[in-house]
Parts: sequence; structure tokens; C-alpha cells
Amino acid sequence: PEANKGYTYEDCKATADWLLAQTAVQPLVGIVCGSGLGGLADMLKDQVVFNYKDIPNFPQSTVHGHAGRLVFGTMKGRACVCMQGRFHLYEGYPIQKITLPMRIFKLLGVKTVMLTNAAGGLNQDFKVGDVMIIKDHLNMPGFAGNNPLSGPNDERFGVRFPCMSDAYDRELQQLAMDVGHELGYSDFLKEGVYCVLGGPSFETIAECRMLHRLGADAVGMSTAHEVIVARHCGMRVFALSLITNKAVMDYDSEEKANHEEVLQTGKQRAEQLERLVSTMVVKMEHN
Ligand code: 6GU
Repeated sequence: PEANKGYTYEDCKATADWLLAQTAVQPLVGIVCGSGLGGLADMLKDQVVFNYKDIPNFPQSTVHGHAGRLVFGTMKGRACVCMQGRFHLYEGYPIQKITLPMRIFKLLGVKTVMLTNAAGGLNQDFKVGDVMIIKDHLNMPGFAGNNPLSGPNDERFGVRFPCMSDAYDRELQQLAMDVGHELGYSDFLKEGVYCVLGGPSFETIAECRMLHRLGADAVGMSTAHEVIVARHCGMRVFALSLITNKAVMDYDSEEKANHEEVLQTGKQRAEQLERLVSTMVVKMEHN
């Protein structure tokens, strides 16, 4: 119980009801925008916007490149809710706070969650600007006991020991590939395993080499926690990484990971990424 700094079902319900009372839109799709990818939210029509600081129980985003707004609206007629800015372990939040929005999505009526992030490429075939469809993850903080489901389990959200071997919806991965091919994105569309670390320091060379050997294709500081909580409460999950930089794997390399490069690459690929996600929203089954 000490470890559970989370919110009760009633807290989550109060926040969801507070939001629903102020918007006509009942979203079926929940979207989380990664660093530099907040433009996705700007595509929504008939917006109702909430600043995180005004939403009961909501933490506030502090990171440069993350706006801190919850945007309701429609994407070509489909009702969506979009997080413009997310919460990270390295901001110092307890992990249950970071994932709170997933439970609020669930109580808003969301069926499908789509998450985006900026990540470093470990797979040597990846280039900066590639978009990696996430097929699985390595949850490194989880190995150390920092799992968002730690603490008492409320069965109204889900079971004590949720399955994660089907975390990333196969049909949505296929849809992403199909839509990507149709849009002419085949050259930069990849798939792979995402590894989450706590950050905020980027990885050492030895750490990058280790992660690569463990089966990770990309490394970042988000998403996997949210996926665990979203799957726990039965939402379908799709996630992708924009490869904003190559993780440094070599002692001869002159490259250095930095946040500005992350944001810059996001800007260059953002429009195509937005089109990929919005086309998926239109084509996916909503149930
Ligand atoms: Cl290289 N590492 C991590 N942990 N997160 C990142 C990244 C690298 N590039 C973008 N996000």
C-alpha cells in the first residue's frame, strides 16, 4: 500500500465525469502525442481543450516540447481525445501518476489507444526519421519493481496478473503497414521492439550495446508504462516510435544524443506521422 501512490477508481471516475460534463464528444480513440509530435492534436475539429493544470487529479507536464493539454475533437468525423504532452518517470512522478490518463481514457469510453514517442534507434538498419511500429516492449523499470500496476489491484479496472504477450494489437500493426504503404511511406516504415528506461540521462555506449543485444530496436523514456495500464483495463493498443536519433553504439562515434535533435526530427516527419495515424483512425474498426 505504501508503494501505491495511485488514484482510486472513484478518483478516476470523478475526473472522467468532470471532463464528460464539459464536452459533447464521447471519444472512442485516445491518442498520446510524443515529444515534438503534438501536431496530431491540432488536426482535431470542433475542439474542446483542457489545460492539464485545470483538470482535477491531473499531473502537469513540465518538459520542453510537451504542451500539457487534453484535446477533445473529431478526426474526419471520429470522436477522439488527445494528450498533447505526457508524463515521464524522469519528471519525478510516481509511476501510477504517469499512467493515470489511461484509466481516465477508459472511463471516458475509449476503446483504442494510440501512442507515439520519440526514440533512439538501436537497430543498425534504422535511419533517423524512420517510423517504428512497436510490436513488443522491454520494460526495464518493471524489472526493478517499478510497474504501474504495483500495489493493490482494483478488479473494476482489470485482473491482478494481466497478460502482456498480446499487448500490441496485431490487426492495428497490419493496418499501420497497409496504410503506410498506401501513403507511400514504405521506405521509412519499420517494426520492432521498444525498450523503456527511466531517463533523463541518455544511455552510455555500453548500455546501448547491452540493450541491442537484449533484443531492443529502439530506446526511449515512455509508452510501455501506459501500454501496461491500457491493456490491464482492456483497451486495444497501437504504438509507434519516431526514430529521432541513432543511439551511440561505438566509441569512435562523434554523435551525441540531445533533446534538440529529437524535436527537430519530429518536426520534419510530423506531418507524415499525423497522416498515418489519422488515416488509421478513419479505417480502423470502432468497437
Ligand atoms: Cl537515444 N534514448 C532515450 N532513452 N530516449 C530517447 C532517445 C535516446 N532519443 C529520443 N528519445
